[in-house]
Amino acid sequence: MAQSFLLIFLALSPLLSVSAYNTSAGCAIIRPPRDGGIRYRGLTQEQIRSVQVLPVDYEIEYICRGSRVIVGPKVRKCLPNGTWTDLSQRSHCLLMCPRVWTSLENGRVSSWPLGPPVEGTVLYYSCLPGFILMGRNTSQCNKMGKWDTPKPVCHYDRHYKGKTWSFFYSHDLFCSKISKWIRSV
Ligand SMILES: *[C@@H]1O[C@H](CO)[C@@H](O)[C@H](O)[C@H]1NC(C)=O
Ligand SMILES: *[C@@H]1O[C@H](CO)[C@@H](O)[C@H](O)[C@H]1NC(C)=O
Ligand SMILES: *[C@@H]1O[C@H](CO)[C@@H](O)[C@H](O)[C@H]1NC(C)=O
Repeated sequence: MAQSFLLIFLALSPLLSVSAYNTSAGCAIIRPPRDGGIRYRGLTQEQIRSVQVLPVDYEIEYICRGSRVIVGPKVRKCLPNGTWTDLSQRSHCLLMCPRVWTSLENGRVSSWPLGPPVEGTVLYYSCLPGFILMGRNTSQCNKMGKWDTPKPVCHYDRHYKGKTWSFFYSHDLFCSKISKWIRSV
């Protein structure tokens, strides 16, 4: 009788320790972003499969498949109130377009939004004074991780009359050139 009681107790003890665990002092697991996974530090494969709640201060890290990069929070930490940090900001695993497009010889490139050139990023091209843009002035990074237009080039304008950075400029001309240049940045 005593023996069978002990046996039952041993069989139940893992359950007891789980139910005794104060789940309000931890965070429920969350799903990784699409095309991504979660790195759980210090847990075995078996624990990762069965875990439901992680302790306060525990940090999870998102990892993305293949060449995708994480945009948004990469690490989330379990807070004492049972939520994870930055849950209002979503994390995405996105493809990145070639960085070669993000700079332009004798010109300028601005990016929207700022950050790595991922799916959806739009680049705006302009050339420095004395150069003419050959090609499209914008390019967008598509879902396949490719820019939707060839990279433009800035050709030297043989007919350009302005004397770049000359001290003989009249004040107005100097300002208008500068402001035009700054606006296009
Ligand atoms: C569980 O943890 C919360 C937050 O730390 C605490 O307020 C609560 O009293 C705990 N409950 C038990 C049964 O220990
Ligand atoms: C949990 O705590 C954090 C920081 O202390 C706070 O920003 C967040 O709003 C809280 N969330 C809830 C659901 O209480
Ligand atoms: C970009 O090119 C389009 C025509 O292809 C033109 O309408 C637009 O004004 C240009 N934008 C800038 C900032 O130069």
